[in-house]
Amino acid sequence: MATEEHYELLDAVNDDVRKLMDEHKSRREHWYAHEIVPWERGRNYRQDPWDESQCTISPEARTSLVLNLLTEDNLPYYHSEIESHVGDHAALKEWNHLWTAEEGQHAIALRSYLLTSRNADPVELENDRLATMTAGYHSGATSPVNVFVYTTAQELATRVSHRNAGKLTDDPVAYELMSRISADENHHFMFYRGVVKAMLAEAPEITLQAILDELERFQMPGVAMPNFLRRAVEMAKAGVYNLRIHHDRVVVPVLRDWGIERLDGLSVKAQEIQEKLLAFPTELARKAEIFERRAGLATP
Ligand SMILES: [Fe+2]
Ligand SMILES: [Fe+2]
Repeated sequence: MATEEHYELLDAVNDDVRKLMDEHKSRREHWYAHEIVPWERGRNYRQDPWDESQCTISPEARTSLVLNLLTEDNLPYYHSEIESHVGDHAALKEWNHLWTAEEGQHAIALRSYLLTSRNADPVELENDRLATMTAGYHSGATSPVNVFVYTTAQELATRVSHRNAGKLTDDPVAYELMSRISADENHHFMFYRGVVKAMLAEAPEITLQAILDELERFQMPGVAMPNFLRRAVEMAKAGVYNLRIHHDRVVVPVLRDWGIERLDGLSVKAQEIQEKLLAFPTELARKAEIFERRAGLATP
């Protein structure tokens, strides 16, 4: 549960947030979806209704793009979750607005691609969006520290998932689009990772606990999406996102970047959490092996 200490920690990292936000602004180049979307492929749906035979990319690639789009569609809920925790904290409020503005382009771009290229059933896509957003979403993070840890992992996971989905399409336009979106997620990831790193330096015990909690219960947002499980398994088998990728590309890198192994001068409780965190990747790799065996995939 969020305590006074969690909110004091937000204030304590204020200067770091400002610095990270300035770095983000100078690093990220804005891009324009209208320059990438293949408008020349667009046709009138009333005169020429959608039919699956019009699709140009594989079913797995289509599932991946649709699920990734529905994840982006949930932006109002991500925004409100962060907003509810940062309160009047000026720097983080400013960040949340900037981040929301940048994120907003992802769904616009991806939906424009799918509708012009006819690589999704437009009726199903809209019904799924409505169902997903009507259900609402909350990550389950209980404190602002947990929210920033969760978002760090989610940005990195989304970066990897978008990039792999783009590769799977075998369509240069989709590839370029997903690479652009993925680059944005990487910039966001760097910001959130930096905030958590500053929190770790300031209050290691609280932050380590939040990292352990969030990594242990991490899930991509999506359970409320229609047919989520079937779609997530399809993406996992296609190598877009699965437990092995989560282990190799998200969990191991974040623990390394945060220097968990090298933290010293910790309280006894913080040391216990540190040990659990360092053991966590092994446990995750074991789960990945079980999934690979069940799904008939080769274990690397
Ligand atoms: Fe995004
Ligand atoms: Fe992002």
